[in-house]
Amino acid sequence: MRRCERVETDRLILRRPVSEDAEALFGRYANDREVTRYLSWPRHTSVEDTRQFIAFSDREWECRPAGPYLVESKESGLLLGSTGLAFESSQRASTGYVLAKDAWGKGYATEALRTVVEIGRAAGLVRLYAICHSENAASARVLEKCGFQREGLLRRHFEFPNLDGGVHDVLHYGFVYEMLR
Ligand SMILES: CC(C)(COP(=O)(O)OP(=O)(O)OC[C@H]1O[C@@H](n2cnc3c(N)ncnc32)[C@H](O)[C@@H]1OP(=O)(O)O)[C@@H](O)C(=O)NCCC(=O)NCCS
Repeated sequence: MRRCERVETDRLILRRPVSEDAEALFGRYANDREVTRYLSWPRHTSVEDTRQFIAFSDREWECRPAGPYLVESKESGLLLGSTGLAFESSQRASTGYVLAKDAWGKGYATEALRTVVEIGRAAGLVRLYAICHSENAASARVLEKCGFQREGLLRRHFEFPNLDGGVHDVLHYGFVYEMLR
C-alpha cells in the first residue's frame, strides 16, 4: 500500500488540502449555489464551514492511506475543485468530485477521477463507488468515461442537502479492481 499526498497528471495537480486553502476553496466553489446543487454536503455559508472540511480532511488523512484532494491547474496554479477517496474499510471507498464553474467542460473531472482510480488501486482498494443524482448527466458521463459500471437506480434514496428537502433518485456506480486483474 502506497501513500500519495500529491499527484501530477497532464494538466492537473491533485494534493492534500492544507489550512491555508480555506479562503480559496470557499470562494472558488464551496459557496456557489449552482456548483453545489447536486452535492452530498451542504453548501458552505462561511469560511468556517470550509475550515471544518479541512479539519475533517486532516482526520481522514491521519487514519487512512488517502483522503480528500484539491485539484489545481498545473499551468496556472489556480484552484479548480476537489475530489478524493472516502474509505469505508481498507478495501472499499467512495468518491466524488466538484469543479468551479469556469473549469467545467474541459475534461478536468475525467482526468482527476482517472487519477483517483489509480490512487485507489495503489492503496489496495477492491471496490470504489459513487452515487449521483439521476439528473446529473455530466457526472454520470464522467463516471462512465472512467470505467465505472452503472449498478442501479436507487429510487428515492438520498436527501441532497442543497435541493428541496425531498428524497431523490440516485444512480449507483461501481468500479471493481478485481475484474481488471
Ligand atoms: C460534474 C462535473 C464534475 C463535470 O466536470 P467536467 O470537467 O465538466 O467533466 P468532463 O469535461 O470531464 O466530462 C463531462 C462529460 O459530460 C458531458 N456532459 C456535460 N453536460 C452534460 C449534460 N447536460 N448531459 C449529458 N452529458 C453532459 C460532456 O459532454 C462530457 O462528456 P464527453 O467527454 O463524452 O463529451 C462538473 O460539472 C461539476 O463540478 N458539477 C457540479 C458538482 C457535481 O455535480 N459533482 C458531481 C456530484 S456526483
